[in-house]
Amino acid sequence: MKERTLSIIKPDCVAAKNAGKVIDLLEANGFSIIGMKKIKLTKEQAEGFYIVHKERPFYGSLTGFMSEGAVIVMVLEKENAINDYRELMGATNSKEAKPGTIRALYGTDIERNAVHGSDSKESADYEIGYFFNALELLQ
Ligand code: RTP
Ligand code: MG
Repeated sequence: MKERTLSIIKPDCVAAKNAGKVIDLLEANGFSIIGMKKIKLTKEQAEGFYIVHKERPFYGSLTGFMSEGAVIVMVLEKENAINDYRELMGATNSKEAKPGTIRALYGTDIERNAVHGSDSKESADYEIGYFFNALELLQ
């Protein structure tokens, strides 16, 4: 069954003008983009998005990073989209990500790691709803 996941091209990757290359990789790997927008998050919006991490030591730094510049948020659709996109992104720490993954190609370190992807069905539902309403998504 087709599944949906939420992708964010993070501020480091957008600023480096690598967004088009990431989108190319997504399409080459079978993902369909069914919603897309370029926005700049406020610190508060980034805090709301990453609320699950609010007790983590990196929460302040992460939400500062995520609100430093424009991001591109997308809803991706594919069979097994959530896990397949996590595979294509690579490990959280860009320095440890497998060659060929998006984070190995375009990330810098454990924080500035180019892309976000939902980690479960529950996260995907919350994250898609955070940025998109049903009318903004292709059916
Ligand atoms: P994401 O949610 O962005 O797809 O990343 P992820 O699942 O691979 O990693 P997660 O543990 O959910 O962490 C969210 C984001 O926080 C930053 N981070 N910094 N300094 C640190 O130790 C640290 N750990 C994580 C990264 O930007 C990570 O993607
Ligand atoms: Mg995560």
